[in-house]
Amino acid sequence: MPSDKKICLSTSGLTKIYGFGAHRTVAVDHVDLKLYEGEVVSIVGESGSGKTTLAKMLLGLISSSEGDIYFQGVKRDISSQKKKQEYWKNIQAIFQDPFSSYNIFNKIDSVLLDCIHMRGGRNLSREKKVELMTEACSFVNLKFEELTNKYPFELSGGQMQRLMIARIFLLKPKILLADEPTSMIDACSRATILDMLMQLRKEIGMTVIFITHDIGLAYYVSDTVYIMEHGRFVEFGSADEVILQPREPYTQRLINDVPKIYEEWDLSTV
Ligand SMILES: Nc1ncnc2c1ncn2[C@@H]1O[C@H](COP(=O)(O)OP(=O)(O)OP(=O)(O)O)[C@@H](O)[C@H]1O
Ligand SMILES: [Mg+2]
Repeated sequence: MPSDKKICLSTSGLTKIYGFGAHRTVAVDHVDLKLYEGEVVSIVGESGSGKTTLAKMLLGLISSSEGDIYFQGVKRDISSQKKKQEYWKNIQAIFQDPFSSYNIFNKIDSVLLDCIHMRGGRNLSREKKVELMTEACSFVNLKFEELTNKYPFELSGGQMQRLMIARIFLLKPKILLADEPTSMIDACSRATILDMLMQLRKEIGMTVIFITHDIGLAYYVSDTVYIMEHGRFVEFGSADEVILQPREPYTQRLINDVPKIYEEWDLSTV
């Protein structure tokens, strides 16, 4: 990343230990991360390597056992509910399981209205709010009129995931964390979702963190790739460095699990 870019989120020695004694698990182990404004970063690692735990700490959903998180160069303070709400204007997430992200008793309008209110739009007219919600829905190819009065569980997995992107469209956070955002849907909708995210990122200049097993996806979308094994970053750098010239055997193994991209590289290097 060029040095004139500003760091928007960083961690130093960030650690999470679950449990005690024989049940002690070091899920995230002294992680140092530097995220620049507008950058797309992927964190790739096997199941259980600590990716979601790291994401939850970055989001402030769970506490860390050790280490610090800095937002825009200042040590993050989310000690009160009010400070947390402020922080969440800047960082939002899309999770593996969209069903868990919504309060099932809230209708879709209120899911979207909440976003408008979070951005300070509480006093806008009803018409203006509907206009904003309609715009957000059409960005993700959903029809707002068809969604009003529905509950999130009445949507398909793909629709639900698009609704999550509509939320991000309204919230316009500085940082978006996407934890396996495309795992619930087929390859075709998956590409559409990715395109939507990347377009949104261009429009609002978001920093995006993708968390995935899929090193092919990481190569396709990211500027920087971090490889995570047993709670640690074993390798990081530009997508080209890490994926085309991996230094670690673990990274090589992750790459070998995806024979498809190998073929593409062979073509590109001929
Ligand atoms: N609430 C918890 N209590 C105890 N251990 C946990 C808890 N959450 C996660 N762990 C453990 O921490 C480690 C890291 O889990 P985590 O969910 O962060 O991995 P992950 O990289 O996101 O995996 P996946 O790719 O399967 O989503 C695992 O060993 C897991 O069993
Ligand atoms: Mg996970």
